[in-house]
Amino acid sequence: MTADPTGPVGGPTIPFHMIDPAVHPDPDTCDTWRELREKHPVVRCETGDGGPGFWAVTRYRDIAAVYRDTARLGSEQGNMLGTLLTGGDSAGGQMLVVTDPPRHTAVRRMLMGAFSARAMAPVVDSVRIATRGLVGALVEAGGGDFVADVAAQIPLIAICELLDVPPADRAAMLEMTMAALGAEGSRESREEAARAQHEILLYYAGLLPGRRKAPGEDIVSLLATEEADGVRLSDAEVLLNCYNIIIGGDETTRLSSAGAALALMENPEQWERLRQDEGLLDPAVEEVLRWTTPVTHVGRTATVDIELRDRRITAGSIVTLWNISANRDAEIFEEPYRFDISRSPNRHLTLGHGPHFCLGGPLARVELRVMLEELRRQVGELEPAGPVERITSSFLTGVSRLPVRCSAGA
Ligand code: HEM
Repeated sequence: MTADPTGPVGGPTIPFHMIDPAVHPDPDTCDTWRELREKHPVVRCETGDGGPGFWAVTRYRDIAAVYRDTARLGSEQGNMLGTLLTGGDSAGGQMLVVTDPPRHTAVRRMLMGAFSARAMAPVVDSVRIATRGLVGALVEAGGGDFVADVAAQIPLIAICELLDVPPADRAAMLEMTMAALGAEGSRESREEAARAQHEILLYYAGLLPGRRKAPGEDIVSLLATEEADGVRLSDAEVLLNCYNIIIGGDETTRLSSAGAALALMENPEQWERLRQDEGLLDPAVEEVLRWTTPVTHVGRTATVDIELRDRRITAGSIVTLWNISANRDAEIFEEPYRFDISRSPNRHLTLGHGPHFCLGGPLARVELRVMLEELRRQVGELEPAGPVERITSSFLTGVSRLPVRCSAGA
């Protein structure tokens, strides 16, 4: 990567096309992030198509500061490059993750109850039972595709429990979710994604009247009947927040779970440590989250002129925070490119930071912990059995196919 020192904004600009999914292979095999952190921690990126361009922030401390600064860096225009560069997010101000305070604070407070330990207990039970069965079936078959057979199933079960999706509809929900966040790139795949997003919203619109009439304990009922700061959510807000939970919680957790299996196979000594020591389960979950960092970046829009390091960012500019880079910052993490399941402290930014910190974080952690517990309990040898495939996206990173061979544990 070369920087152009004569950029139009008083500092270097780079022609690195972060928006192009093709430049996001396995981030750990790409020197760009290391170079940006060292030489251009706050850098202007031009997309080369006459578009607005954007700022990229790559050091942990700067990223954490921007995450906290919701007063000067807002989310309502969108929180990912894909939408920010194409006119903004139409769900801005209605869907939690792209809503700014004070409405964000009120809706978030209302939703917190649905993610409390008490509300989550039945979800955790279902996740545990399902994971035990899925890992058992994988072992019995001697292996399979870890993504399709295990990692893809667990988050969907959790989300369908949270939203009380009837069991008969769950397979269709998985298909729609994968298509909605699916591969970027061709016009066809973008159209298919838009169609799937629409189908998901229509599906929840169909559930809404029944939940209003006879509310249950699920999140659809909560969103449909409770008030946020004295104001009932509109139908659009209810549906978009259901969508937020599905999209926020499904593929992300799947990518972390699959990435966990891959990391354990690539680091067999860490797999052996985990098998030997149950006490490593909690730090292993955190290291899996840091190591896999499924959400590559989040985006914000500056609402006023701000200074970050020696760069002046004008109001209206798009600012992107690269989690994949923050989680490898040597100023914060010792030997950041080493997968170490006993790493402590481990304050990764995988689940974001500040007011928009991932609402489903505790659930993601439970899903990962239960999966690691079941792998320890049931699996002996775990090894690769074919080529790994990675997803193509500038927003998410991880594996979409992971053939494994495994044997029963002792
Ligand atoms: C927010 C990542 C799992 C629901 C976020 C944010 C990140 C993130 C980075 C902050 C976005 C921003 O600041 O703009 C992840 C990752 C996960 C995961 C990597 C799995 C490993 C989940 C799960 C759910 C969920 C399981 C729900 C079932 C949400 C919601 C928000 C959010 C509703 C918006 C919070 C707010 O704006 O206040 N997530 N997430 N996420 N996540 Fe997650």
